[in-house]
Amino acid sequence: MQNLLKINENFAKLPANYLFVEIDNRVKKFAGLHPEAEILRLGIGDVTRPLPAAVAGAMVKAAEEMGRQETFRGYGPEAGYPFLREAISEHDFRSRGVDIQPDEIFVSDGAKSDTSSIGEIFAVDNTVAVCDPVYPVYCDSNVMAGRAGDYIEGKGYSKIVYMPCLKENRFLPEIPRCHADMIYLCFPNNPTGMGIGRADLKKWVDYALENQSVIFYDAAYEAFITDPDMPHSIYEIPGAKKCAVEFRSFSKTAGFTGVRCAFTVIPKELVFGGVSLNGLWKRRQSTKMNGVSYLVQRGAEAVYSEAGWRGVQKNIAYYQANAQIIREGLSKAGFEVYGGVNSPYIWMKVPDGFTSWQFFDRLLERAAVVGTPGSGFGPCGEGYFRLTSFNTRENTQKAVERIGKVFAE
Ligand code: MLT
Repeated sequence: MQNLLKINENFAKLPANYLFVEIDNRVKKFAGLHPEAEILRLGIGDVTRPLPAAVAGAMVKAAEEMGRQETFRGYGPEAGYPFLREAISEHDFRSRGVDIQPDEIFVSDGAKSDTSSIGEIFAVDNTVAVCDPVYPVYCDSNVMAGRAGDYIEGKGYSKIVYMPCLKENRFLPEIPRCHADMIYLCFPNNPTGMGIGRADLKKWVDYALENQSVIFYDAAYEAFITDPDMPHSIYEIPGAKKCAVEFRSFSKTAGFTGVRCAFTVIPKELVFGGVSLNGLWKRRQSTKMNGVSYLVQRGAEAVYSEAGWRGVQKNIAYYQANAQIIREGLSKAGFEVYGGVNSPYIWMKVPDGFTSWQFFDRLLERAAVVGTPGSGFGPCGEGYFRLTSFNTRENTQKAVERIGKVFAE
């Protein structure tokens, strides 16, 4: 009988596994063979510090409210409760002189979901530009949507415009020579850990305004910025409200990787062909999701309380100190290292003679340290390796020592 059901064949164009699933599989295999090994995980950027008491306490209180008739709540507003959208608007934007109103903020379960879904409100024949290396979600989600073309070995997807980020250009993408409709930028960058200054970001805003392109600006790591010249939001650049969508997350800022809360900013001025992107996204979100749980949103709101803010800053400082330990320890051991100053990620050059995956395997086998191979983020990541500063102080120190020892041998 003829098979009439057709699947989305674009999925066949994807790598077999999502990058972090592939890593996890290799680590599980290693752990099975070496049950005695103390594995140090500096691979996926997952936090280890507990939530500040004020944040955890707000969620407990919200749970208690749900258990009483007078304070019980059912469905909340799809785009988030006003109390949280107000707090975000005030603390993340207005306090920096950026006028972003609560109804331009859409609360969600994660920047991963939002950056992978935003393409739905755009045509499939738009040209996509991504950095190389890049957070795989931007690319894979466009492959699924049928916007990427065919995969050509060694070159990448035929319809995607890749913007190489190399040592030679300070790991900052250059404006593409051809036209790009949808441009994904992430700063501070995942995976290279490099930040972008105002003047460099302005070039992108100017390009987008001139070419009627949209910038998807992933600022999930803005809380790690230490350089006063680096903008925390793209809307600090004049004109950006007319060309950029911004993604933010409580994951790395406030330790919410397991709690799940993020938000996307779509300014009302963002209008293409007479159509408001804010309106389209609202339509999309109200159809596809019922919002984030009340408990989680109360926890996120508490991040902006005095005690909550103090707590999250303390955690960020802890990870920043880890980043410094990795940077300095590996430099001392003779490695070339980048990033880790305005970012939780350290981007290191692998020793000559190794590919990124060979270095991954060597480190796992000889040091039981897990990192992320640069080539998993794109062809220009080959020869590099990413470490995160999100582990405990003790494990971070141990990992740096072990890496140094293995390559001193
Ligand atoms: C990473 O390690 O790149 C991130 O933790 C992944 C993510 O945020 O989804």
